[in-house]
Amino acid sequence: MHCKAVYLALQGALLINSGVCIPAGTGAGALGPNGGITDTGNKGDDPTVTYCGSLDETAKEIASSEPESGPGFWITNQDSDANVRYFLYENGRDDHPWKYANVPQGQRFFIQVCSTWQGRIVRGTAKVNLDGQTHLLGSWFENNVDQDGAMWGDISFLEGCDGGGSITATDGSNVTRSCMQDMLAGAPSDALAQKQTGTNVIDKIVGDAANSAAKDWDLKKCSADAVWIDNANSKPAIKSTNGRFDYVFYKGKA
Ligand SMILES: *[C@@H]1O[C@H](CO)[C@@H](O)[C@H](O)[C@H]1NC(C)=O
Repeated sequence: MHCKAVYLALQGALLINSGVCIPAGTGAGALGPNGGITDTGNKGDDPTVTYCGSLDETAKEIASSEPESGPGFWITNQDSDANVRYFLYENGRDDHPWKYANVPQGQRFFIQVCSTWQGRIVRGTAKVNLDGQTHLLGSWFENNVDQDGAMWGDISFLEGCDGGGSITATDGSNVTRSCMQDMLAGAPSDALAQKQTGTNVIDKIVGDAANSAAKDWDLKKCSADAVWIDNANSKPAIKSTNGRFDYVFYKGKA
């Protein structure tokens, strides 16, 4: 067995070295209460990371599916809100998305990333997410490409939830993690927080002012095996050896 450190980008700024021979997302080092979970924020560039984008360039809009070559992921838009755009943030660059996709409702785009990509896809709008500020609240569809070209990914509600979804490996293994629930409908008011877009969503469940009502609601609707909800982090992170995932964004709002 070829053993090496596997890096899984967990919740933004930190890269977690999950340890030799342990799949990312399942090692003790990847799952601790401080394992990147509460330590979000704009940390700036990590000199060990080769970024896909340039901070000198404003995020460009992807208005049609990109060529299906190299690492990347499909995004299927099953969201409730036609204003949703999908923003790609590289870890440590929380105030500067790399690019964003305008996927019409009901359609599916392929989005290319570079071979050193580490980041997340989140719902947002150009008006808010291109304002140079940090906008963490909402569901994080996280993933990164490892040294072997495999992609690791999960869906996290730790920083809030603005909709459910699913992630599926496209390497033939068919491994999937899914919570296709309408997360916002019927949520108790004490579980809610407002995004800068003005939309009320499920609040964050880690860090300062972690909202326990939000966590209760998340766990009522979704399994912690499917979505990263609790710090025990059962097993939501999965791998696709071909460097690609298939994501569905379900009943979310910008
Ligand atoms: C994955 O799904 C495809 C299409 O349904 C099927 O042909 C294939 O056998 C599945 N692979 C595994 C490992 O279950």
